[in-house]
Amino acid sequence: MNAASAKGWFITGTDTGIGKTLVSVALTRALVAQGLRVGVMKPVAAGTIDTPQGPRNDDALELLGASNVAVPYEDVNPCLLATPASPHLAARHAGVAIRAEPILAAQRRIAAMSDRLIVEGAGGWLAPISAMETMGDLAGKMALPVILVVGLRLGCLNHALLSREAIRSQGLPFAGWIANRMPTEMALARENIDTLTSRFGTSPLGTVPSGIPAAESGVPAWATEVAKKLVSL
Ligand SMILES: Nc1ncnc2c1ncn2[C@@H]1O[C@H](COP(=O)(O)OP(=O)(O)OP(=O)(O)O)[C@@H](O)[C@H]1O
Ligand SMILES: [Mg+2]
Repeated sequence: MNAASAKGWFITGTDTGIGKTLVSVALTRALVAQGLRVGVMKPVAAGTIDTPQGPRNDDALELLGASNVAVPYEDVNPCLLATPASPHLAARHAGVAIRAEPILAAQRRIAAMSDRLIVEGAGGWLAPISAMETMGDLAGKMALPVILVVGLRLGCLNHALLSREAIRSQGLPFAGWIANRMPTEMALARENIDTLTSRFGTSPLGTVPSGIPAAESGVPAWATEVAKKLVSL
């Protein structure tokens, strides 16, 4: 583990579109509300929006908007790919390679200015970033404890258990998991949470309720609770 390792978390999820950004932004705000300097990163992002400053990724902008550490966009999101596809395909399409070194250099710069660092992965744990490497390999190089966001929908038990195994095999510390009840609540959501609590051997750090308005800008109660637990770890 490098010096940055004690200072933050890598947020992964059971799939794409299951609430990693929602959780990362809320945790950033909650940690900021505790008086901490909270740096953010979306190291690899595929898919851009046009802004007056040029192409940007919306997840990276949302994270930056919640952070209270002023760093250049390029450090928050060192690898920005235009095509909204798996990072390895978007990179191949652009004729570039996703390199860890610039990402780790940006991490060091942001970590030096921050008390805590929130890093959002792209896709799920084994999302490919090159012919052989995955987001999980990048998380390993960033040497941060991992938080798994479980999007509660049919199939999530399989995805969650597979993700947990893959995180374990990467040898990274598991800081815990967060249950996201998603915009539409699944049948037997509580029983699914209980099943994962039993299989993981630990309750979720927190549970995101269903139907949060997209524009919510305060610090939700669940995020305050999770942030308290995380800083006391
Ligand atoms: N509990 C919830 N209640 C309401 N909306 C939610 C909830 N969880 C997620 N969403 C919405 O679902 C969408 C996907 O969530 P989010 O962008 O956080 O997922 P993600 O895992 O970061 O996706 P990506 O893989 O694209 O980065 C967003 O519009 C988000 O606001
Ligand atoms: Mg996201």
